[in-house]
Amino acid sequence: MTLFRAAILNPIDIKSWQFLLDGGLLIEDGRVRAMGHFNDLVKHYPWEPVTLDGVILPGFADIHIHWVQHAVRGRYAQALLPWLATHIWPEEARYVDAALARDRAETFYADCLTAGTVMGMSYSSPHPEAAHIAHAARRGDWITGNVVMTANAPADLVAASVKPPADLASLSETIGRAHYAVTPRFAINCTVDDLAHLGAFACQEGLAVQTHLAESAAEVQEVKRLFPQALDYTDVYDAAGLLGPRTVLGHCLHLSPREWSCLKGRGCWIAHCPSSNEALDSGRFDLDCARLHGIPFALASDVGAGPSHSMLHVMQRFRHQHRAVGVRVDPEEILFRATIAGARAMGRGAVAGNLGPGKRGDFVLMPRSARLQSPQSWFEDLLDGSPAELEQRPLGTWIAGHPVFGGARPALAEPLAPC
Ligand code: GUN
Ligand code: ZN
Repeated sequence: MTLFRAAILNPIDIKSWQFLLDGGLLIEDGRVRAMGHFNDLVKHYPWEPVTLDGVILPGFADIHIHWVQHAVRGRYAQALLPWLATHIWPEEARYVDAALARDRAETFYADCLTAGTVMGMSYSSPHPEAAHIAHAARRGDWITGNVVMTANAPADLVAASVKPPADLASLSETIGRAHYAVTPRFAINCTVDDLAHLGAFACQEGLAVQTHLAESAAEVQEVKRLFPQALDYTDVYDAAGLLGPRTVLGHCLHLSPREWSCLKGRGCWIAHCPSSNEALDSGRFDLDCARLHGIPFALASDVGAGPSHSMLHVMQRFRHQHRAVGVRVDPEEILFRATIAGARAMGRGAVAGNLGPGKRGDFVLMPRSARLQSPQSWFEDLLDGSPAELEQRPLGTWIAGHPVFGGARPALAEPLAPC
């Protein structure tokens, strides 16, 4: 058992969090045994504490990130479709090389831990081997899937891609159902038959599904042209049986009222990717509409369209984009969307997402600021800075109570710049 002593900010729901200026967190066998005011906790558990100079938050969840784009993140300047063809597909083709994939996977997970991300859902390249490599190298709790691309893509990627239904069973078996997501890249890269095979397989095996939906206006037009029989873009996936409560749809920026209702009816999750939407100038997520329909969503970086894997940066862009047009976004909701909501989207709500009793001891230590007496003010300060600064802001990260970055010894706090 380890008893940590620090300030603690623990998200509860979109409206509330628990803040303890002098908190205690007791971890036993990798899970939270108890959390509360240090002086109360130590009466029941009279252990010598590990005192940390900073603020403990639960580790972050990033539910939509392309780990194979990490090395080229932030190279945009074009809209989605030309950006994919110019910058992304040539890069992903390189993951045919297992040595390169191994090397890149190590960097990716190390960077995620440094930034405080302990879990997420990732897109791999089409190559099955690269997905195996990502799974074997993972640090934290990850669900991954090799993108299926059987149409309208460069020949080398189509050749590398799994052709449904072949090979899907062996991939999900070796990677494991809890860690494998059926991943049609997007409708443009799949045929009607392939989508139907993927939907049937996901349903039969109870697997998570991840894909992109209505990210750009040009993409929506292209889907209309390629799938003339469908009611709309959402219907392409729905007709294939791909939509359900285990489905996580990236973006969802250009949806009709019918499509919003369909997503609600199917219980789908949305991965809201504000930094990516801004970078590719894809549009703004209709937060009011998502709230009105009660559609569950969590935040995601969508690296490499998103310029940074830092969830602090994603939270910053979430706050900025919606507040800029007068839509209210409270700090409590921002933290919730990067932690509890992400864990729930992954099907891990019972075991991760905050520091409640019985959950995994996954947490990140953040620096104090002069405004710590008010957790709202401190949290607003925490999100200020450039992507590079935010990627390095955590002082340490722990998984199941063990330090995985920094923090092996009590860390020194660096004050945040006042905003
Ligand atoms: N749509 C299809 N593939 C991709 C991708 O790799 N990134 C983003 N942002 N959108 C996509
Ligand atoms: Zn994406």
